[in-house]
Amino acid sequence: VINTKTKLFGVIGHPVAHSLSPALHNWMLKHFDFNAVYVAFDIEPRLLRNAFKGMQAFGIAGLNVTLPHKASVVDYISFASPQVRHLGVANTIKYTESGLQGYVTDPYGFTESLGSQKEKFQDARVLILGAGGSAQSILYALKDLGCSEIVLYNRTFEKALQLAAKASDHLGIGSITALQSEQLQDAVNDAEIIVNTTSVGMHPDTGNPLPFDGILKPSHFVYDLIYNPLQTPLLRMAEKAGASWQHGLGMLIFQGLRSLQIWTDTDVQLNSNDLELLTAHLIREMQNS
Ligand code: ATR
Repeated sequence: VINTKTKLFGVIGHPVAHSLSPALHNWMLKHFDFNAVYVAFDIEPRLLRNAFKGMQAFGIAGLNVTLPHKASVVDYISFASPQVRHLGVANTIKYTESGLQGYVTDPYGFTESLGSQKEKFQDARVLILGAGGSAQSILYALKDLGCSEIVLYNRTFEKALQLAAKASDHLGIGSITALQSEQLQDAVNDAEIIVNTTSVGMHPDTGNPLPFDGILKPSHFVYDLIYNPLQTPLLRMAEKAGASWQHGLGMLIFQGLRSLQIWTDTDVQLNSNDLELLTAHLIREMQNS
């Protein structure tokens, strides 16, 4: 029931019409029996300041932040987690009486979505495709997962170079290098794990191929951050090669779970049965939208 004690959470973005976050969070709020609802707010950039004043006035307990506000939101935060300070973005805002707190829950989302596959990352050679905001979050997670060697490939080489330098300096990842396109085939062959953080293969442009083909092996583990479609051309390639693979829905779920833990000061967890039900719920939601 909704009553005078019902708390309000939400996501702010522009646009947000296709966000899966309301479906994800309202499922979890109900599942964990929190007296709260989660809604989507479409906030134009010029109204962001007013939105945070409103958050304070209305006592909105927590917000997720998505494009295009992830970086500008940092200006309104009184307490920034170390990851927010390092990455310069926040995707989770918590209201407290002493001001807004900001967090990034994507690295946790990636790590926890791996489940038993986590072990594969210890001392592994990992190839990351892309050098944007998501790639940075993944680097954070990879460091904690104990990867031994990371190579970055990006359409725009300069960005891969910059990210590799930043990660070496700030994250203390020892071996991290940026690849030129002629090195990509060899890098795919050498890597044990491949993580796609680019939007290549994402709906509606699902025919878009990655710049390598036919060289994946059964020993590869391929992770694509994309969840729409669930199986991108890259993941189909992985399946065809007999490699193991994972889509991005798990990461979406676990970054959301971490936001909920932060807002509610709890350690709520999803077991494998919960995960299966929630995944099916989100797939239905995607099909209906
Ligand atoms: P995100 O926060 O999701 O990482 P982003 O910071 O805009 O988003 O980064 C998008 C990434 O996808 C970049 O690495 C981008 O490559 P460029 O740096 O060359 O722009 C990559 N990307 C997007 N569309 C691509 C395409 N069609 N082919 C190859 N890479 C693409």
